[in-house]
Amino acid sequence: MTARSCLSIILAAGLGTRMKSDLPKVMHEIAGLPMVGHVLNALKTAGSERICVVIGPETSALEDFISKQAPDARCHVQHERLGTAHAVLAAKPSLEVDADDVLVLFGDTPLVTPETVAKVRQALADGADLAVLGFETGNPFGYGRLLTENGCLVAIREEKDATEEERRITFCNSGIMGFSGSQALSLLEAIGNDNAKGEYYLTDAVEIANGRGLNVVSVIGSQTETQGINTRAQLASCEADFQDRMRRAAMDNGCTLLAPQTVFFSHDTHLEADVIVEQNVVFGAGVKVASGARIRAFSHLEGAVVGSGSIVGPYARLRPGAVLGADTRVGNFVEVKNATFGAGAKANHLSYIGDASIGAKSNIGAGTITCNYDGFLKHKTEIGEGSFVGSNSTLVAPVNLGDGVFVAAGSVITDDVAQDALAFGRSRQVVREGKAKDLRKRLKAEKDGKS
Ligand code: UD1
Ligand code: MG
Repeated sequence: MTARSCLSIILAAGLGTRMKSDLPKVMHEIAGLPMVGHVLNALKTAGSERICVVIGPETSALEDFISKQAPDARCHVQHERLGTAHAVLAAKPSLEVDADDVLVLFGDTPLVTPETVAKVRQALADGADLAVLGFETGNPFGYGRLLTENGCLVAIREEKDATEEERRITFCNSGIMGFSGSQALSLLEAIGNDNAKGEYYLTDAVEIANGRGLNVVSVIGSQTETQGINTRAQLASCEADFQDRMRRAAMDNGCTLLAPQTVFFSHDTHLEADVIVEQNVVFGAGVKVASGARIRAFSHLEGAVVGSGSIVGPYARLRPGAVLGADTRVGNFVEVKNATFGAGAKANHLSYIGDASIGAKSNIGAGTITCNYDGFLKHKTEIGEGSFVGSNSTLVAPVNLGDGVFVAAGSVITDDVAQDALAFGRSRQVVREGKAKDLRKRLKAEKDGKS
């Protein structure tokens, strides 16, 4: 099959008015990635060599996204949104270059897997001129229904054009179709717009192909993979299914999730085997956790790397650029941003560590704050190896603490501290013996005098 050349066309120009959004529909995210990005990923994994995307005329955000995510993909603009067949024809310049297989996918059907894409292509390799990916659902409302006779696919009927009886059919169109390259353009150009919506329906290709005596087949996919997103509720349901997929994959890869339903992943979360994730953990984009690390309950991680054997949380926040070496500890109510922790470094309680580097085995006491921002610029705090920062210290950046430094609790550190030095940055304590008693006596007398 790999010998066959393939053109994949993703339709992404629809306005998605039922989303009630200023954002193009396909830019709404599933697990932090625009839905069209999921389709691009599936095609890339399936090894699709030529991809084009049909976009609307005013969707520069979409075009920017595609050029970053799939720089080789070609964008075609559909100037008027006259339906899915019209949208495919907006890619006519790409269609005119020969391909054995032409795949059409919808940008609003993001959960399709590379395996399913391969199944549709296999049907073409097996001799189909047109292959439609269908699925069974208990709730077919809104989908095109696949009309079959004796197991053959004869037509697709859109919801608005269907009879009562046809609406009861539960075998639906996912929107994903494969055309044999030799038939695609001629079938698409034969599609008219004589229907309830006055649109050029891609789905009409089925009847036309049958009328020409071509080989039309349906391929069966699962509903979770093939569900389309037209509303916010469908977006939420797709998100839930994708999260389940990520959870299952994490567990299959050897991670323990103590309460899988409460762990939320980004599309690119990478957990090695033997990572343990406790309850109510949220992964934002770009997180990697190495083997043997434990992410404790109620932690939020984004753009962070956690080294092997480290423990993060409970209630920790790792922000972009947090890079924790092996066997580190970041405990409750600690926020780390753009900061590296060497192996064995610890910040166990109530701290903000931003724009910093903490050397191996250094210990950051409770309540330590790196003052990294002066209202205009960010500055760096550097701490060497094996240093100890006492509780409630304020490190005013830019500032440099060497190896083996000891900072007394409650210090405000504004100047660099050399290796092995002990730094005090606080006023000296004064103790006056017996004076508390005198003070109480005087205050009581004052109060009695007033009453
Ligand atoms: C479509 C199918 C329906 C199928 C369902 C699966 C048709 C006529 N109907 O209906 O059979 O069950 O998807 O989810 O194909 N688009 C454009 N330009 C347009 C119109 C749409 O690019 O002029 C794009 C949209 O961005 C979207 C995709 O095509 O990604 C599907 O369009 P949508 O309007 O969502 O079609 P459905 O009503 O969902
Ligand atoms: Mg749709």
